[in-house]
Amino acid sequence: MAARGSAARRRDDASRTPGRILEEAIATRRARVGVVGLGYVGLPLACTFAEGRFPVVGFDADAEKVRVLRAGGTYIRHVPATRIAALRGALERVIGAEPGHGRFAATSDLVHLGACDAVLVCVPTPLTAAREPDLSCVEASMRAVARTLRPGQLVVL
Ligand SMILES: NC(=O)c1ccc[n+]([C@@H]2O[C@H](COP(=O)([O-])OP(=O)(O)OC[C@H]3O[C@@H](n4cnc5c(N)ncnc54)[C@H](O)[C@@H]3O)[C@@H](O)[C@H]2O)c1
Repeated sequence: MAARGSAARRRDDASRTPGRILEEAIATRRARVGVVGLGYVGLPLACTFAEGRFPVVGFDADAEKVRVLRAGGTYIRHVPATRIAALRGALERVIGAEPGHGRFAATSDLVHLGACDAVLVCVPTPLTAAREPDLSCVEASMRAVARTLRPGQLVVL
């Protein structure tokens, strides 16, 4: 009996792969979502996840944008300040959030990427004078993601 119990435990442990743990975290709204680049794509995306009860940390290199969001304001016309103000929470509380309490905090400090289970990168890719995409922002943000990357972390570019 005891032997069967430990075999079952081993099977359970083996099925708890980083991918399965992430799936469970998403299903229970425990997964912390990081959005890098809070522009026309990233800001509404971050709000939508927070409204869906995920804790969301938004990252932007522009300190002024972070300041405006922290004050409950906006800089994008179709994302009203009321939407930001309703979602905003303290960074420490969002990172340590209980499941189902979707809240949004903004920061420029990419060290907090390590606390996120899913990282969605929404930085600009403008065209150069030669009409080639300028990937320097993508490369910079992916270097930052790589510094805190861990098994089971989902990164979406
Ligand atoms: N806007 C659109 O309608 C649209 C549609 C389809 C695809 N896209 C694509 O989505 C991506 C994002 O576009 P957007 O319109 O949201 O851009 P945006 O310029 O509005 O926003 C990008 C944000 O990223 C920030 N940023 C730049 N480098 C950063 C870094 N290293 N770390 C953190 N933040 C950084 C900027 O300060 C800015 O706030 C681009 O690749 C674009 O081609 C945009």
